[in-house]
Amino acid sequence: MTGPAKPVVVDTVQAVRFQVAQARCLGRRIGCVPTMGALHEGHLSLIRAARQRCDYVVVTIFVNPTQFVAGEDLENYPRTRDADLAACASVGTDLVFAPSTAEMYDPDSLTTVRVHRITEPLCGRHRPGHFEGVTTVVTKLFNIVQPDAAYFGQKDAQQAVVLRKMTRDLNFPIEIVVCPTVREPDGLAMSSRNAYLSPEQRRQALSLHRALDGVRRAVAEGRRDAAGLLAEARQTIKSAGPCSIDYLEIVHPETLQPLTEVDQTALVAVAVRIDQARLIDNLLVDPSGPA
Ligand code: PAJ
Repeated sequence: MTGPAKPVVVDTVQAVRFQVAQARCLGRRIGCVPTMGALHEGHLSLIRAARQRCDYVVVTIFVNPTQFVAGEDLENYPRTRDADLAACASVGTDLVFAPSTAEMYDPDSLTTVRVHRITEPLCGRHRPGHFEGVTTVVTKLFNIVQPDAAYFGQKDAQQAVVLRKMTRDLNFPIEIVVCPTVREPDGLAMSSRNAYLSPEQRRQALSLHRALDGVRRAVAEGRRDAAGLLAEARQTIKSAGPCSIDYLEIVHPETLQPLTEVDQTALVAVAVRIDQARLIDNLLVDPSGPA
């Protein structure tokens, strides 16, 4: 039995355009999965989803410097090219675009893309300029690949909301598909940044999901007061070990504005720093949903 064919790997915009144009000529539906590499099961779930609904799957691997804020982990961000290419091949990727920074950014570039308002709370407040880097690079990737559909993870809930809004506002003819968060068996949301955690910190990191799940269960039992729910969740995280909570909020899932009552579907979102690692997680809670 033969496995899926190895993807074509290219590192120039021109080569992507050439490959994708050929696929389009054959009438293929093009799916795109933007990533920064260090691929794990979360990324692979997006590629599998693209594989199911598209005929030609493009994975982009680019550690985008413009979305890292000064003092963040750009230099140390895990880069695992060979393993990434093998992982892409294992789930059936047609094309991998892995450009250099010079290929992606003209040093004379004067243009960025900025989504207002919904980029201000949550991660936006703690990572100024981050989302402008994300929206600019994703716009460039959309223009380079010109996919019919693009796949993103609920793990980065605010990013997904921002990119969906940008796509609508700028009339990109691209379907945005958001896939569920893939977790380790013990509940920890998979992340390339989990590699930074020591075994003890890895145990401590479980408190994020435990806290979110506590909110979900309390809401299922009829609790509605956001302040009380958040106080308990904060306690769960704080009692797990030394950390600094960037934010822990219950917000509207589209406007990302804080809710005082959980009387509609709400996004519970958290970002915690454990030593050098900054971890995020979130859960959608539905007061009318099953317990
Ligand atoms: P990266 O962190 O590599 O993530 C790439 C995609 O994988 C994102 O859509 C992210 O939400 C998704 N993802 C990560 N962990 C996941 C998990 N545990 N379950 C499900 N999906 C998961 O997000 C970025 O890169 C960048 O900001 C990018 C969009 C590529 C722009 O540079």
